[in-house]
Amino acid sequence: MRLFFAVPLSEEIKAALSDYQADLLSAGVTGHFSPAENLHITLAFIGEYPDLEKVISAASGLSFDSFSIEMQNTGFFSDTLWAGVSADRHLDKLASSLRRALSDSGIPFDRKRFRPHITLARKASIPDSMSCIPLPGSLSMPVRYFSLFRSDRGRHGMIYTEIFRIFSDDQEI
Ligand code: 2AM
Repeated sequence: MRLFFAVPLSEEIKAALSDYQADLLSAGVTGHFSPAENLHITLAFIGEYPDLEKVISAASGLSFDSFSIEMQNTGFFSDTLWAGVSADRHLDKLASSLRRALSDSGIPFDRKRFRPHITLARKASIPDSMSCIPLPGSLSMPVRYFSLFRSDRGRHGMIYTEIFRIFSDDQEI
């Protein structure tokens, strides 16, 4: 099973990012745009791993308080177009605690530096003449939990299925 941990986005943020993707498309941006239901912020990518119970148990011991995040700016990793998430120490701390818990349990994961982002389109390219299209303002949301997802290749792209949620200690903000 291909597994990863991520912060799912609120319906409002997904709708706003989906509108933004539509604006990019109308402005001539090409690529494979991520469907709204696939938009998320990956915290740790595990990949193929057989022991689901072990993964759930490693993450369930984490303790964290709710916090807010805000989407800010856009950028490229190679030809992947993303929306960034404001440098937030709570999110960084959550990703590093999670990664430490996985390490301590001997669960392998992609150790590339955590750069919080939401993939908007892959194999993306922008027209030469295009000027910047800013993200809509104040795209913020509370993070009260994060989730374990499985990833499967569907006929029309990747299908991400939420398997388990790990809630913050307070669940309030
Ligand atoms: P991405 O958004 O930058 O493409 C499921 O594949 C999720 O895990 C995606 O959000 C993907 O990030 C992320 N991910 C991180 N490292 C990965 C890797 N080595 N292989 C595939 N996906 C990875």
